[in-house]
Amino acid sequence: MNRIFSGVQPTGNLHLGNYLGAVRNWVRLQHDYECLFCLVDLHAITVWQEPQALKTHTREVAAAMLAAGIDPKKNVLFAQSQNPDHATLAWIFNCVARIGWLNRMTQFKEKAGKNRENASVGLYAYPNLMSADILVYRATHVPVGEDQKQHLELARDTAQKFNSDYGVDFFPLPEPLILGTASRVMSLRDGQKKMSKSDESDYSRINMTDDAETIELKFRKAKTDPLALPETMGELAGRPEAANLLGIWAALSDVTLDAAVERFAGQQFSSFKKELAELAVAKLAPINAEMRRYLADPGEIDAILKDGAQRARALSAPVMDQVQDIVGFLKA
Ligand code: TRP
Repeated sequence: MNRIFSGVQPTGNLHLGNYLGAVRNWVRLQHDYECLFCLVDLHAITVWQEPQALKTHTREVAAAMLAAGIDPKKNVLFAQSQNPDHATLAWIFNCVARIGWLNRMTQFKEKAGKNRENASVGLYAYPNLMSADILVYRATHVPVGEDQKQHLELARDTAQKFNSDYGVDFFPLPEPLILGTASRVMSLRDGQKKMSKSDESDYSRINMTDDAETIELKFRKAKTDPLALPETMGELAGRPEAANLLGIWAALSDVTLDAAVERFAGQQFSSFKKELAELAVAKLAPINAEMRRYLADPGEIDAILKDGAQRARALSAPVMDQVQDIVGFLKA
């Protein structure tokens, strides 16, 4: 049986980019696979998080996933810190993976920036924790975007080295699942930058909690260029803002970018933006309402996550039992 593991960091509100690029695809995956969806709070604290905000964000992201249609009975939805097996296996992987491998991780270089000496040790070892997330359940498939591909490669290398160091055929080599076309939604203020929760301007993104009025306003103010919409795909070249808005329309409508270009060929941005905003409101409003309903009752969210954590632990415990034996630890 194929088993999927996917993680999302609970560091702030989900936005349209997260929804179209990740969450919506997970909702589809749950029908074909056994899925674990994890709010990776241990990963979040590799950079500073205010404790109260971390709790709030963890519940918010859970609410967004539930509201988007992830069924917590069919899948396992939980927070990473609620199952201590992740951290235990991550330590073992710290001793399997090589420093040279981690030194090649481009995300660490980007996130640590110039001030590398001052980055947390956790930020550096982050990929080993991610390997543990996946392998503690012996997951076979991981939905990943471009930015996580290198980490998944490292997880495969680590699984392979563990197997060969200990002379076992224990961990599967997890495969990437590359999903959907619109996995990259760009900023509404700059078509060359990814839509991000850390962008200073709230006008750069559509948050999953934005109401209809805000969504309309943000699309109205979205950056464009002075031309009319392109007549062909070829004319879209060098027009990142037009490509992004058409891409969002296509993703929300579940059609190809070609179809979106054809549909709005030669139109003015103003009328297109109006239609785009209407569509976004229609698609997001029900999710938004459901999310608010969940957030009004944090106790319900906590109970769902707790139940998920227990089921997660039941899956990882037998794996860790064997790992102890393979590594040479005595039973507790
Ligand atoms: N590193 C991922 C991100 O920042 C989140 C993540 C943590 C993850 N563990 C994972 C993704 C395991 C897939 C599988 O997006």
